[in-house]
Amino acid sequence: MDRPKKMPHVKSVETKYMEERDSLMRGLAQLDRRAFMKVSAAAAGIIAAKGLVPPHSFTPVKVEAQDARGGKGESFRFAYISDSHLYDRTLNDRFINALMRAVDDVNAMDPQPDFVLYGGDLAQLGAATELDLGAQILKNLKAPMRIMVGEHDWYLDMGEKWRDLFGEPTYSFDHKGVHFVTINSVVEKDFWTARKLTPKERMLTVAGLDNGVQSPFSVGEEQRAWLKADLAKVSPKTPTIVFSHSPLYKLYKPWNFWTDDADEVQAILKRQQSVTVIHGHTHQLLTNRIGNMHFHGMLSTAWPWPYAPEGLPEMTIQMARPDPFNPNDGCGDGSMLVHPDGLIDKVYNLWNRNPITIKKTYMTSRGAKDKPQAPTRASY
Ligand SMILES: [Fe+2]
Ligand SMILES: [Fe+2]
Repeated sequence: MDRPKKMPHVKSVETKYMEERDSLMRGLAQLDRRAFMKVSAAAAGIIAAKGLVPPHSFTPVKVEAQDARGGKGESFRFAYISDSHLYDRTLNDRFINALMRAVDDVNAMDPQPDFVLYGGDLAQLGAATELDLGAQILKNLKAPMRIMVGEHDWYLDMGEKWRDLFGEPTYSFDHKGVHFVTINSVVEKDFWTARKLTPKERMLTVAGLDNGVQSPFSVGEEQRAWLKADLAKVSPKTPTIVFSHSPLYKLYKPWNFWTDDADEVQAILKRQQSVTVIHGHTHQLLTNRIGNMHFHGMLSTAWPWPYAPEGLPEMTIQMARPDPFNPNDGCGDGSMLVHPDGLIDKVYNLWNRNPITIKKTYMTSRGAKDKPQAPTRASY
């Protein structure tokens, strides 16, 4: 008598992807360099086999044509991950695990976001090993990626490795009727040559926010001219979203929560009727409105900064004081729902708290409508 045949166990593409990805992620922390490269190649294979769109950052940035689904009038969502501050995996795997958690969060979004914004400070000390590791982990994102540069990525080799991996840090693109601009807003005046600092000393100086030696961040004349020329090609009516690592306003200079030429940059942006700036660097819930410009800070995956002792923007819904015994508290990732007018509802996906949504209507009513629930514990 024939024995009933056992049904072959068919794994879904998703399950296979997650298994392969998990084994890659599990291995990352302990591998030597040769083995790591082997695993990295395998990950690239997984992505190719799945037909996933690789992150934009591994090819030169192109200006996209209007989205095929119809351009204007459509809202859409993008996710964000920011400020992972990766050390080499032999030194610290906590921040590596945090970035992997964010990649998991974003990959689990259903529907998938149109793209993922990486907000800068991928590395802690600008080392090639740190940036390679970050690029490797970010390759596991299912959605395409857009990336901006942070000061921690840049000042060891003045952006050489970062540009190798991700292309130029200044670019624009159009998506569903919105014009996006990405700039390098962590340009510093040369404080190192006269002091005869080594590249490593320069990097360590920039990495310490409040040492008083480095110069304040700026966008600089060259990029301001580029921005002006870029916007001249766009109608003032086109909603415009700017990706900038530093906030593009003057918040608190002693910590370099500050963009020195913010006034000049805002004067250029003013031409656009709807301007939203999304920034990293401040590692906290931060919301500001200056005239018609809306400014939105992103969470870090690595650590939350306390609020600056003065000058906190009025529109900010403050985050509760993070629990010092939980290394993930006050950290997280998030997403932005972009309305057809370019204004956004932003979601702070805090890992140890309920998510907090700051709605467009809260911003347009200057806080009168849709005010999110205030935190129940004191902020810093
Ligand atoms: Fe940062
Ligand atoms: Fe930063």
